[in-house]
Amino acid sequence: MLKVALIGWRGMVGSVLMDRMRAENDFALIEPVFFTTSNIGGAAPSEAQGAPLRDAKDLSALKAMDVVLTCQGGDYTTEVYGALRASGWNGYWIDAAKTLRMKDDAVIILDPVNRKVIDQALVKGVRNYIGGNCTVSCMLMGLAGLFEADLVEWMTCMTYQAASGGGAQHMRELLTQYGALHAEVKALLDDPHSAILEIDRKILARQHAFTPEETQNFVVPLGGNLIPWIDKDMADMGNPGMSLEEWKGMAETNKILGRGPGFGTPATPVDSLCIRVGAMRCHSQGLTIKLKKDVPLADIESLIGNHNPWAKVIPNEKERTIRELSPAAVTGTMNIPVGRLRKLAMGPEYLSAFTVGDQLLWGAAEPLRRMLRIVLEK
Ligand code: HSE
Repeated sequence: MLKVALIGWRGMVGSVLMDRMRAENDFALIEPVFFTTSNIGGAAPSEAQGAPLRDAKDLSALKAMDVVLTCQGGDYTTEVYGALRASGWNGYWIDAAKTLRMKDDAVIILDPVNRKVIDQALVKGVRNYIGGNCTVSCMLMGLAGLFEADLVEWMTCMTYQAASGGGAQHMRELLTQYGALHAEVKALLDDPHSAILEIDRKILARQHAFTPEETQNFVVPLGGNLIPWIDKDMADMGNPGMSLEEWKGMAETNKILGRGPGFGTPATPVDSLCIRVGAMRCHSQGLTIKLKKDVPLADIESLIGNHNPWAKVIPNEKERTIRELSPAAVTGTMNIPVGRLRKLAMGPEYLSAFTVGDQLLWGAAEPLRRMLRIVLEK
């Protein structure tokens, strides 16, 4: 059995990964070895069968592994990956962090969408398989049918990204802010005759008065607010005014699909405005798609819905939409609903769509465990 190092299994993405691996019985197929950066010698999960946690920075221990599967984050990858390869290790590095994603010797993994790209890389001997940006992965799981039919001339994504994209502390901060806002006006809410504009004034005053501790992660209020910028400005890479999250939308979409300069084909333009909203762990996106030709809506719906078992077309009706096309409906499920499908006023090649995905499942953990399965099949 392949020896698989599990690193970062206790964090948020790692915990979701562990749950999925248990649900799919992945541990029966591997010899798992659990590593840690903070609790060396401590107790590992039951799958370790009593073996203690090993040091995640011990290169000789890592060298004995066939696969390293890490959700530990980019700093860990930066610190350990190069040294491990330099020591002669030739195993499979499967990683959730962005550090290696755009490197020439790495593939971005989303196998229901790019199994062909993955298989070609395996044949060529590529050893680095990296999970994509969550927004991109969730969007492609929904829209892959249109890309596969080569119908997309260009696309814009307006994203509504959940607090979890920032990390566990960000989710806590969001809820703490909601709680503080509620506490501020609880007495007025309890009185059915109180004035709504008085409540509104108090909420705004409380938001403006949030302390640095209350906005430690998001810097500004997110509860009852939104933040139209995610991650750093790309000025140092020649794109001032574009956020890194927006840059990834085009770069990663094309790399996943095996398009663009690295593949000798023109890239499909994908441009985004990425917005943080007060949802917990589902990223949603409103898409405008310019099709290469006028295709009937019914054909578009079957291409989307038949592409993979998780993409589900939600009829463009109010009741179905509000009940099935939201973070609250999708969280904790593998479903990628795609709805609000209609032709736009600009012409019959212009299509709108709205899609939602759990950014911890298809957006992070699931492609990693599926890649492990692909390695095991080899
Ligand atoms: N960058 C994403 C976000 C999460 O902040 O929502 C990770 O892909």
